[in-house]
Amino acid sequence: MTDQKRKALVIGASGLIGSHLLTRGRVMGWEVHGTYNSFPIEGLRHLSLTDREALLGILNELRPSVVLVPGAITNVDWAETHEEETFACNVDPIRLIASWARDEGGLVVFFSTDYVFDGKSGPYYEDNEKNPLSVYGRSKAVAEDILIDSGARGLIIRTTGVYGKESQGKNFVLRLLKTLDSGGEIKVPKDQIGSPSHAPDVARFTWRLIDKNQTGIFNVSGPCLMDRWTFATLCAQLTGRPTKGIIDVRTEELNQVARRPLKGGLLVHKVTKTLGVLPQDVVSGLSEMLDSGKGLISCEG
Ligand SMILES: NC(=O)c1ccc[n+]([C@@H]2O[C@H](COP(=O)([O-])OP(=O)(O)OC[C@H]3O[C@@H](n4cnc5c(N)ncnc54)[C@H](OP(=O)(O)O)[C@@H]3O)[C@@H](O)[C@H]2O)c1
Repeated sequence: MTDQKRKALVIGASGLIGSHLLTRGRVMGWEVHGTYNSFPIEGLRHLSLTDREALLGILNELRPSVVLVPGAITNVDWAETHEEETFACNVDPIRLIASWARDEGGLVVFFSTDYVFDGKSGPYYEDNEKNPLSVYGRSKAVAEDILIDSGARGLIIRTTGVYGKESQGKNFVLRLLKTLDSGGEIKVPKDQIGSPSHAPDVARFTWRLIDKNQTGIFNVSGPCLMDRWTFATLCAQLTGRPTKGIIDVRTEELNQVARRPLKGGLLVHKVTKTLGVLPQDVVSGLSEMLDSGKGLISCEG
């Protein structure tokens, strides 16, 4: 018989963080179900967060004790010109999931970002004042508040600059290596500072917090602060690739639609103290991911 207490649903399990949540949760003895939206993966069920009926249907059918929501519109520039669609995906479903979980006594784990801050004075603690610069950042800030005010048990995982093996090959490290291997150039901002985070580590820490019955906001990111150009250069160096294709620019030269927090990044004192473990540093995380460069398009292992 299924132990309902260790049954979880990952909405957005076809994405970078979601795929690692699925794998790690199972390793830790949870029965984990997962959904995709536009990128079908065997074993995952289709769910669009904007389909309220389907969302309620899957919650009522599975009755998970934990609903993890990495699923979101994550393209920051697209979000900037599609505010309504972004809020319909990143905010409204959180209200529905939180209200369902409150009635069921379940836990909602929501994934958020350092883009809830303006990047004037990062790295940030959990309780620093929010001031998002973009539609994406605002959608996350509002969804956080909805979950906190809902009366449901809510765990908010704020992370940033996530890299790792993934099926869709979308994250910055994978795009960087592809560009360098094809002899191309990639412009990388040297004035954007963050704390790069290894997806398997984010997943590990999330499940540990769940197992410890934690609620509230937790920063879960790598412990090292670095600008994006240095991070890109490190990726190339660790894999023996030449760095000359990595061009350092200032953010404003990229003419991106959405504004980015420049001095971002997250401080991880709270999660480190709670779990007694420091998140993986960037050299160790990248080495694990890039080990011989094999099998990057997967989240196994
Ligand atoms: N990656 C980062 O650097 C980073 C940093 C800070 C915070 N976060 C947050 O962490 C979470 C996960 O990020 P990620 O990097 O794993 O993102 P990702 O790789 O872009 O994955 C996003 C996931 O959301 C799903 N999704 C998108 N639209 C959906 C919809 N309308 N209905 C249902 N599912 C939908 C996607 O499904 P399909 O692919 O199947 O369409 C995918 O599974 C996000 O909430 C993001 O805001 C990420």
